[in-house]
Amino acid sequence: MPQHYGDYQHEIYFDGLFGVLPTQPMTFAELETRARAALPPSLWSYVAGGAGDESTQEANAAAFRTWGLVPRMMVGAAQRDLFGLKLPSPLFMAPVGVIGLCAQDGHGDLATARAAARTGVPMIASTLTVDPMEDVAAEFGDTPGFFQLYTPTDRDLAESLVRRAEAAGFKGIVVTLDTWITGWRPRDLATGNFPQLRGHALANYTSDPVFRARLAKSPEEDPRAAVLEWVGVFGKPLVWDDLAWLRSLTDLPILLKGICHPEDVRRARDGGVDGIYCSNHGGRQANGGLPALDALPDVVAAADGLPVLFDSGVRSGADVVKALALGATAVGVGRPYAYGLALGGTDGIVHVLRALLAEADLIMAVDGYPTLADLRTEGSLRTVRA
Ligand SMILES: Cc1cc2nc3c(=O)[nH]c(=O)nc-3n(C[C@H](O)[C@H](O)[C@H](O)COP(=O)(O)O)c2cc1C
Repeated sequence: MPQHYGDYQHEIYFDGLFGVLPTQPMTFAELETRARAALPPSLWSYVAGGAGDESTQEANAAAFRTWGLVPRMMVGAAQRDLFGLKLPSPLFMAPVGVIGLCAQDGHGDLATARAAARTGVPMIASTLTVDPMEDVAAEFGDTPGFFQLYTPTDRDLAESLVRRAEAAGFKGIVVTLDTWITGWRPRDLATGNFPQLRGHALANYTSDPVFRARLAKSPEEDPRAAVLEWVGVFGKPLVWDDLAWLRSLTDLPILLKGICHPEDVRRARDGGVDGIYCSNHGGRQANGGLPALDALPDVVAAADGLPVLFDSGVRSGADVVKALALGATAVGVGRPYAYGLALGGTDGIVHVLRALLAEADLIMAVDGYPTLADLRTEGSLRTVRA
């Protein structure tokens, strides 16, 4: 990766001098349009869609337009320090179950891990993958990876998944709280499509000894029974009293994903977590909610120095900068890299990540915020008048 992410534009302009135009989209709108054409309709609906009439999903993205950066002078990029890990940028890839299916070869988890290796942008690998977590982790190169846990109802299975993640070399566990049950998703309902029920993206379960021990016949012999077993074991409705148990499972850093209320931040802190992950699941789980960005400032204040990861609605480098200015320690994207993968495999993801970082870097250069610390100073953002 270049010293300054913004240098990516030089590569593109120099190619243009020799008559070579970029094959990858330069705007999110074009990325979305082309990904739609590249994916089978039901998978497109699953990835692009959200809960209800998708007003929360739209509000997530629109919320960024209510903030504007106040230009100052001078430039820079910065090293991030998350749980003692030095990362080359504050960007990360949010966990996307079925990312495996978004690749034209059906191995998108591996392609995403390879993009992480090439860019230094960490991948949070979902519990729901096409390839088992050990194979995904093997592709990370020097970039740290995180494992996202959907906590099963079977505690032994939860423990087994966490142990495997530790053994595979993941550097932290992200426990998703908002998806023990699936939200009301009209697009998926209209296509009658829920990929996991069709046996997709269950490799971490079918490869797990505890899960396999629950089955009368192996998943290879009776895949349908394995899916039904998965339905029964998938989602534990966690309560705060479960946090001590979760904490006891591992010495790896634990982050709680889906937190938007400051009181929940305080409870998480009291329970000994290492990071807060502010997100509303990209508006996929519950419609009618607050845009995640609007929740971020109070979450950051309550976190009181604990790292705060953020996602939901980030579509551009400008959005990345604004989330950082509002106090996020690191900023995640979901759908944008899924679309990049659909279009261009690992290269497509690398392009999406580099374009986000380049735009963020150049905005910091142009607007004169040399470091993330400068960006986070009082007064760097103002609300935009309607
Ligand atoms: C197709 C799809 C699948 C997802 N699967 C998971 C998942 O397995 N685990 C999880 O914690 N979040 C999951 N998410 C939510 C993302 O981690 C993230 O919160 C969200 O995509 C961020 O919003 P954005 O898509 O607007 O960037 C998924 C999102 C999408 C679009």
